[in-house]
Amino acid sequence: MDATSSLRIEGVSKSYLQRSTLIAVLDSISFNLETATWTTILGPSGCGKTTLLKIIAGLEFPDTGRVFVEARELSRLGETAYLPQDDTLLPWRTALGNAILASEIDGKPIADAKREALDLFDQFGLSGFESLYPSELSGGMRQRLALIRTFLTHRDILLLDEPLGALDPLTRATLQNWLLNVWSELKKTVLLVTHDAEEALLLSDRILVLTDRPAQLQLDQAVELDRPRDRGSSELVSHKSQLLRLLLEEEVGT
Ligand SMILES: Nc1ncnc2c1ncn2[C@@H]1O[C@H](COP(=O)(O)OP(=O)(O)OP(=O)(O)O)[C@@H](O)[C@H]1O
Ligand SMILES: [Mg+2]
Repeated sequence: MDATSSLRIEGVSKSYLQRSTLIAVLDSISFNLETATWTTILGPSGCGKTTLLKIIAGLEFPDTGRVFVEARELSRLGETAYLPQDDTLLPWRTALGNAILASEIDGKPIADAKREALDLFDQFGLSGFESLYPSELSGGMRQRLALIRTFLTHRDILLLDEPLGALDPLTRATLQNWLLNVWSELKKTVLLVTHDAEEALLLSDRILVLTDRPAQLQLDQAVELDRPRDRGSSELVSHKSQLLRLLLEEEVGT
């Protein structure tokens, strides 16, 4: 693993037993992530994207293959920050209480954690909502809060499983901009899962496309468009239609 890589996945395969039938989910997936880059995974529904993120997060074990974080083989939970596909905010904690959870668990001084969180609340447009509970926030605000909490884990590698799913297009576009700004400032290594080819092209340095289950790496492509990117630019639109064609072929199994 060279000095600029922060994550290496080596020949990861995984099957699950479902009603006494073994189903193959991941088939020999390998890739490296360069430090401080943004990589996005696209693939058909049910192909194994969440399973892959869980393996990298240390929540599931591969049947074969290995995961290396900063050149060391993954040995414990919490080496990366994982934002699961479902909303996992704690309903009995305020927005600020949710945001500083990881710092509290790590034993950081609460005053420092709060100061840091308030700065991100500001950047993500959530100032003034610190004392509200998750049930009092809109869907887009909850997504932002979950992202803030993930950034505040102070891990260098962020695993984001469809963090902008189920949002209206305008909120989604605003959140994409916020995310890009915070990412370029904090220099994290991001691995994002999305169903949205346009989102992948707007945000990423690199796109990985998985095949239908059992997932193999079908495409590993650098996105060489200058930032800030324009979703209406002819280059982006043409890349998008190529990606959609590939994904559609996978969905219908041709
Ligand atoms: N704990 C489990 N036990 C048994 N089967 C599982 C388990 N977790 C996932 N699977 C199966 O593995 C396959 C991949 O699931 P996974 O959640 O990784 O897909 P995904 O690509 O994230 O899908 P989506 O795009 O819909 O989120 C599915 O067929 C699912 O039924
Ligand atoms: Mg999933």
